[in-house]
Amino acid sequence: MLSSLSLAVALLATTAAASCSSKGSKKPNFIFIMTDDQDMLMNSLSYQPAVQKHFADKGTWFKKHFCTVSQCCPSRVSLLTGKAAHNTNVTDVMPPYGGYPKFVSQGLNDNYLPIWLQQAGYNTYYTGKLINSHSVTTYNNPFPKGWNGSDFLIDPGTYVYYNSCMTRNNEPYAWHPGQYSTDLIASKAVGFLEDAIAAKDRPFFLGVAPIGPHGEVLVSDNTPYFLDPVPADRHKDLFPGVKVPRTPNFNPDTPGTASYLKSAPRLSQKEIEYGDEYYRKRLQALQAVDDLVDSIVTRLEADPDVLANTYLIYTADNGYHISQHRLPPGKTCNIEEDINIPFFIRGPGVAKGAVQTFPTSHTDIVPTLFTLAGIPLHDDFDGEPIPVTHKMMARSKPKSEHVNVEFWGTTLKEGNIYNSTSFLNNTFKHVRVIGDGYDLAFAVWCTMDHELYDMTADPYQMTNLYGTSGRIAEWSIPKLTARLNGLLLTLKACKGQVCTRPWKKLHPQDNVKNLRQAMNARYDDFYEEQQHRVTFSECALGQILAYEGALEPIPYGAGGKRAARWEDWT
Ligand SMILES: *[C@@H]1O[C@H](CO)[C@@H](O)[C@H](O)[C@H]1NC(C)=O
Ligand SMILES: *[C@@H]1O[C@H](CO)[C@@H](O)[C@H](O)[C@H]1NC(C)=O
Ligand SMILES: *[C@@H]1O[C@H](CO)[C@@H](O)[C@H](O)[C@H]1NC(C)=O
Ligand SMILES: *[C@@H]1O[C@H](CO)[C@@H](O)[C@H](O)[C@H]1NC(C)=O
Repeated sequence: MLSSLSLAVALLATTAAASCSSKGSKKPNFIFIMTDDQDMLMNSLSYQPAVQKHFADKGTWFKKHFCTVSQCCPSRVSLLTGKAAHNTNVTDVMPPYGGYPKFVSQGLNDNYLPIWLQQAGYNTYYTGKLINSHSVTTYNNPFPKGWNGSDFLIDPGTYVYYNSCMTRNNEPYAWHPGQYSTDLIASKAVGFLEDAIAAKDRPFFLGVAPIGPHGEVLVSDNTPYFLDPVPADRHKDLFPGVKVPRTPNFNPDTPGTASYLKSAPRLSQKEIEYGDEYYRKRLQALQAVDDLVDSIVTRLEADPDVLANTYLIYTADNGYHISQHRLPPGKTCNIEEDINIPFFIRGPGVAKGAVQTFPTSHTDIVPTLFTLAGIPLHDDFDGEPIPVTHKMMARSKPKSEHVNVEFWGTTLKEGNIYNSTSFLNNTFKHVRVIGDGYDLAFAVWCTMDHELYDMTADPYQMTNLYGTSGRIAEWSIPKLTARLNGLLLTLKACKGQVCTRPWKKLHPQDNVKNLRQAMNARYDDFYEEQQHRVTFSECALGQILAYEGALEPIPYGAGGKRAARWEDWT
């Protein structure tokens, strides 16, 4: 529905973007807005008119965008480094397996996005939550590197909506009683935007990470309590009667088929109503986020030249579930609600009002920003540039068709009534494959449960087809499962280009580029008989390789049979 005028504008904008990377002209600016725990599949975006107006209408919505680990800290670290969690080994929100101290001890404070952007000539600014366990005791030990201006929310005040604890430009921290967290972040973001625009000689990156719609977290005796989100007073009565969408996977009759999902009891009426209330509070908390979006874009619109050279991204660190598959409020699972999340981009050369459905992930974001800024990609990036502009789309090879998702640990039941209890054994490897004529989810759990969903026929993941003898598309399920096992085995320890081109590792001749080609009958024996299986020998809380079975796939043509066959595929 492009008018010829807006088409002309889009073409002009593409030309402007092209000239940015040429020598001497200014690189584009970036404004990166990331919410905390925002779902896409429970429809939160349809309650955000400013996101609709400034992002859906003015940019492109990547509807099959995934986080690669569905929890705040590991997801943010993967996003800010372009590396999978198995390569950062920041896999939790607190030590020993994660949190800010682990980010530092892994050397990542010297090797992440803002440092690289400064080296490329950028001024960098950030306000809001950076990483969990960035706290009153760790914030200065050492300070996060790479920021020209920063104003971070830190623990134990990160998630206290009306009493944030913040540290500005590495100064001693201060509490902000009575001020609403998201509004505070909005005003700091606009302040940094003023600084960034005033420093005309260098392009800028501005990261804005409000806590909405995350639940409030209060710490008592060193124990965090996960309570309901707190909306701004002006929004607290909105959406009366609105409920979590009653999708087929909402508190279903039948339990799940993997790990703790098998024995999760059906939610009681009281729990369902509680989940609906929690859902409304999330939508209310998102209204201040929507105001934040509006204030940033409005400020930018006052400088049309700056706006014309700025890419804006709106996304979340991970998704969220409430009552799907009988789960109380929370994230960290492999279900689609937790991993398929909002991602919009707008800016020079990006199609307006467009929707894309090829798979993209958080590890792709740094490579995408690098490409837009004309910075050479690092060999150890585990993602690849998303073709976001007309120009990149025309130039790039097709994007890879898979996203690898991983997790180690437990899963928390959030909200007042659950009092911070958990389900155990939430360690798994998961792959989503979205190609021409297929849309699949395959997982192997530390309990050695397996899941296989045909996401075309069963988007709500109600029927686990693993171990059945039927068909998906035209393929026999056992033969398909064998290929997905080979793919997951390759991805679970991949580094760099193997993560984006895994079939080349399996088929070094490079004559197999996707699942469909791997389904060729000539590879049946290779995948079904010769290849290692993805296995675990224990449910660990972190990435302990000794429990994770084979780490490298056998390449096609290497010959030989597996020593032991531990199961049939039928
Ligand atoms: C931002 O930091 C970089 C790296 O230290 C520096 O080169 C640049 O001059 C700083 N920009 C401003 C506006 O101070
Ligand atoms: C939550 O658990 C803590 C620690 O076990 C306990 O002190 C507190 O009373 C509990 N709160 C509720 C609301 O059950
Ligand atoms: C966790 O998984 C182990 C197998 O690794 C199993 O023995 C144990 O019962 C499981 N625990 C729970 C709480 O599901
Ligand atoms: C990840 O970190 C944990 C905790 O320090 C450590 O035990 C584990 O060996 C590390 N795993 C890898 C693959 O480096």
